[in-house]
Amino acid sequence: MSFRQPLLRRLAVLPVALLAMLASGCAGEFPQTTFRPVTEFGAAIDHVFRISFWWTMVILAIVAIVLTYVLIRFRARPGVEPRKIYGNNLAEILWTAGPAIIVVTILVPTVRTIFFTYREAPEDALVVEAVGHQWWWEFRYPELGIRTANQVHLPVGRPVEIHLSSADVIHNFWVPRIGGKRYNYPAVALPEGAPEPRNHNRIVFTIEEEGEYHGQCAEFCGVSHALMRMLVVAQPEDEFEAWAQSMREPTNTVPEPGTFEEKGYNAFIAGGCMACHTISGTMATFGMEGPDLTAVGARWKIGAGAAENTPEDLARWIQNSESFKPGSKMQAFPEITGEDLEALVAYLQSLK
Ligand code: CUA
Repeated sequence: MSFRQPLLRRLAVLPVALLAMLASGCAGEFPQTTFRPVTEFGAAIDHVFRISFWWTMVILAIVAIVLTYVLIRFRARPGVEPRKIYGNNLAEILWTAGPAIIVVTILVPTVRTIFFTYREAPEDALVVEAVGHQWWWEFRYPELGIRTANQVHLPVGRPVEIHLSSADVIHNFWVPRIGGKRYNYPAVALPEGAPEPRNHNRIVFTIEEEGEYHGQCAEFCGVSHALMRMLVVAQPEDEFEAWAQSMREPTNTVPEPGTFEEKGYNAFIAGGCMACHTISGTMATFGMEGPDLTAVGARWKIGAGAAENTPEDLARWIQNSESFKPGSKMQAFPEITGEDLEALVAYLQSLK
């Protein structure tokens, strides 16, 4: 009896620890949870997860009960020799058939979900191209003639087909509440006139709930892989159309003459920023290397989630983006300082 008491006392801690774990699991927002899907794609995957989870729990319970029974019933007793058993047809049939049934029960919905999540997009789907870059996301809307970065707006209730590709290494598109993950492969260079490459991945879904959903590159793609985030803004169709219109024909990207923002705009042009960055409605329309900056002031963060969208962070980003994002391909501009820097920051932040 004496050796059992400390063990029992130790076991008494278990329910407390379990409660603490459950309580901490319920705290917080968890913007990247997969448990609250907002698309039929996410719901299908969540369904398979739940089936597998509850089957596993049933198996765990059965094994625990049988194990406890066996440990007590057949424990070592002085002077009792265990009976030896060789071969038991019933037991062998049961432990072969049981797992086979479980595997089939999980396999059927899994295969059905694989086909469901790879189905063709309906005719009216909105096509968006998501191009992975080290380390940011480029989004193009070929039908709407617009381009943006890191923050992608999508309509609620309309099917969306995202074409996934990469400008450099392999990335992975993952917005947990929407579904995924799915690879962005580098485009294969084809000879002139060759048919469209067929090796690009696609992901098709319909967002059913308005909101903002955080995403993250899910394939290790270099030193700043963890700083390759994105935000999906799901909005009603009319708001989405209004946003698209404001991106296509922005009215605020060329500042009024004589304003502080105009000084910033001039610094943008003089600084050579437009070699890499495009701002719709301005003369900076050919820079494709870096993120499109039309409406950059409205983004939830800058540098694909690496820095806050505040004047302080934006100024530091311009002077040395690597201080936020190691390996960043954006050149440092330590020469842009003082009022020029302040004006440039004010201009970029006015782009909303
Ligand atoms: Cu891109 Cu990891």
